[in-house]
Amino acid sequence: MASVGLFRLPPAGLTQRQAPVGSVAHPLPLIIDSDPGLDDALAIACAVVRPEIKLLAVTSVGGNADVHHCTENALRLLHLYGADDVPVAEGAVGPLVGPLERATEIHGESGMGSTQLPKASRRAEPEGAVALMARILESSPEPVAIAPIGPLTNIALLIRSFPHLAPKISHICLMGGSVGEGNSSASAEFNIYADPTAAEIVFSSGLPITMIGLDVTHHAILDRSILERFAQLPGRSAKAAAELLKFSFDRSAAWGQGEKMAIHDAVAVLHLAIPDLVGVSRYHVVVDATSGPARGRTIGDANPYRLKRDKREPNCDVGLTIDSDRFADEMVAIFAKLP
Ligand code: RIB
Ligand code: CA
Repeated sequence: MASVGLFRLPPAGLTQRQAPVGSVAHPLPLIIDSDPGLDDALAIACAVVRPEIKLLAVTSVGGNADVHHCTENALRLLHLYGADDVPVAEGAVGPLVGPLERATEIHGESGMGSTQLPKASRRAEPEGAVALMARILESSPEPVAIAPIGPLTNIALLIRSFPHLAPKISHICLMGGSVGEGNSSASAEFNIYADPTAAEIVFSSGLPITMIGLDVTHHAILDRSILERFAQLPGRSAKAAAELLKFSFDRSAAWGQGEKMAIHDAVAVLHLAIPDLVGVSRYHVVVDATSGPARGRTIGDANPYRLKRDKREPNCDVGLTIDSDRFADEMVAIFAKLP
């Protein structure tokens, strides 16, 4: 049986992807739901630049930082990237149930490290995140993919508030979870840990899902060598990204975790633009939404015997492998194209 590092591929190995992938001829319509956030900043850049994606909106959710910071960061990032035409709307402050979870120790109080991005010349849409997503889904001539890269609160609210719009969601390609170890706790990854109830609503919704979890994003690493590569790039975006990354490397070094950062969120977006970057396998995933020590765990099962025995069907693709060198090259190529 093939293995990747400490992780053993499931019996089925890697399987055919279910997620749609855009093309230059037919860009994939996409909404990003985000808690910008340092790695969110790079993910949004991917969606702005890649010709296989048509970014329709960025909605914010409280997570890495307070939601008002996340909204402002989304506006300023899109302004920096020359994408002021992409609407932004503010979503949930915190989880459906349970305490507010933040990751400001990683992303800084503002969510953007110590970087002051240039102010945007516009405000967020007054209707709010869930209403904006619903309006886009309602009016789109074709189903729209959603890339949640923060806690899933807004997505759960969308599913429960507008069930008739489910057929207009082509795919949910989320950054979150892990079939292996967590990060916020030994069991749970931050985006799921921050709102397990919302995550359980999403994973049990029947919608097509790809879970881009830590299993694959822990191989989407940038280290200090990227700073030199970004320094050669002409635009303000690359300089700002280098500042954001340097903040992460310094924090990571201060914690004795080496001078590197997993760019988790960008993998979820690039999976929708580059068909062979990430290898996936089918799993049945449920979320532990209890308040015990495994709170927020995504329990992934791909064992054919247990699935048959318990009459459970796989409900999502789980990202397991990535071409790590190509990932770093793609990030440089993306920021080379930004103003
Ligand atoms: O666990 C990683 C996730 O938590 C990423 O989305 C990061 O931005 C944080 O939100
Ligand atoms: Ca995020």
